[in-house]
Amino acid sequence: MAHVQYDFDCVIDRRGSGSFKWDKYDRDVLPMWVADTDFPTPQPVIDALKARLEHPLFGYQFGHPGIRDAVVDYVQRRYGWTITPEDVIFAPNLISAINQLIKVIGVAGHEVLLLPPIYPPFIAVPPNFGHSIRYAPMSVTTSGQRLRYELDFDALEAAITPATKLLLMSSPHNPTGRAFSRAEQERLADFCLRHGIRVISDEIHCDLILDPQIKHVPFATLSPEAAANTVTLMSLSKTYNMPGLQTSFGIVTDKTMRDAIMAEQNRHIVPGLGALSWVALEAALNHGGDYHDQLIPYLRANRDTVVDFVEREMPGVKVTVPEATFLAWLDFRDTPIGDDPYTHLLERGRVALNDGKTFGPGGDGFVRLNFGCPRVTLLDGLKRIQRTVAG
Ligand SMILES: Cc1ncc(COP(=O)(O)O)c(C=O)c1O
Repeated sequence: MAHVQYDFDCVIDRRGSGSFKWDKYDRDVLPMWVADTDFPTPQPVIDALKARLEHPLFGYQFGHPGIRDAVVDYVQRRYGWTITPEDVIFAPNLISAINQLIKVIGVAGHEVLLLPPIYPPFIAVPPNFGHSIRYAPMSVTTSGQRLRYELDFDALEAAITPATKLLLMSSPHNPTGRAFSRAEQERLADFCLRHGIRVISDEIHCDLILDPQIKHVPFATLSPEAAANTVTLMSLSKTYNMPGLQTSFGIVTDKTMRDAIMAEQNRHIVPGLGALSWVALEAALNHGGDYHDQLIPYLRANRDTVVDFVEREMPGVKVTVPEATFLAWLDFRDTPIGDDPYTHLLERGRVALNDGKTFGPGGDGFVRLNFGCPRVTLLDGLKRIQRTVAG
């Protein structure tokens, strides 16, 4: 496939396209919230979709030839993870997959362990099936205006009860941007195995590691025991900006667990992938390389822009330096808008972020900022925030 050069500086007008991100708020509000980027989907994906449209039949689709092998090759290439085609499951999106998994793995009355602040649907889903939530908040340290979050093993031990049967983790972590090291995850895997806690590892941000010296370590690759205890969920939808194409997959090496998940999928409560989803997924798995190689340095420079801007222009505000994701987590508690930064920024600054309150314990006084956009858009958003804080 010919090399493709991408221009991530190019601003594309998404207003009026039915975009969740761009059409939710008034036209003068700059959206920097929900986690889709403002970059076009890779050209090979668009080309594959166009080619598929030449075949004028969109009947029921039985998977897609070669798709399992494409996932097997992908995880081998990217993470050195050897799996078999049978280990792969598919789902239109991760949140529906998490719903299915919680239903399959747990029974009502179980508790799900979360590591807040955390991606809000993790808090919303367990009660769908009669599960309650135990929180083990991450610990946070501050250096100047920079925040760093870590797993807190004392909080983990204190959070659980004999009814705690499942850890739902986000790795890399949304919203703190942590890419957990092998050592941290080994300690967490050991904790879960000791206490009989199964793991759903949502690794949707796995390809968005921003620093070359950091590697994503899939939780299930830590040891054979961790693999047997874990369901891994992945998707290329964040990296290649195609969440609207419904293209998620999971890896389940434990056959008993996989059979139970397949039985649930065969109940048809959640639909499978659509005819175009398979095509997009395969093209992204096999031909997304050029895009990824160019996206990561662009996002890294955006991250550095956010951190530099906060340090130069926003006294009192603190910010994470995300190792992964295109999400920054900002603390406004020591500023005049600290009571409700989300509302002040929306109403006065005309910039929409995600309200920290919705991320569970540790979210009050914070907002999450999506820097997956052209730099000119990012600077516009940062200036709106700066002006609002300065009053
Ligand atoms: C950690 C995490 N999981 C899941 C999702 C949503 O995935 P999907 O659109 O596939 O349901 C997101 C989107 O922001 C996310 O950050």
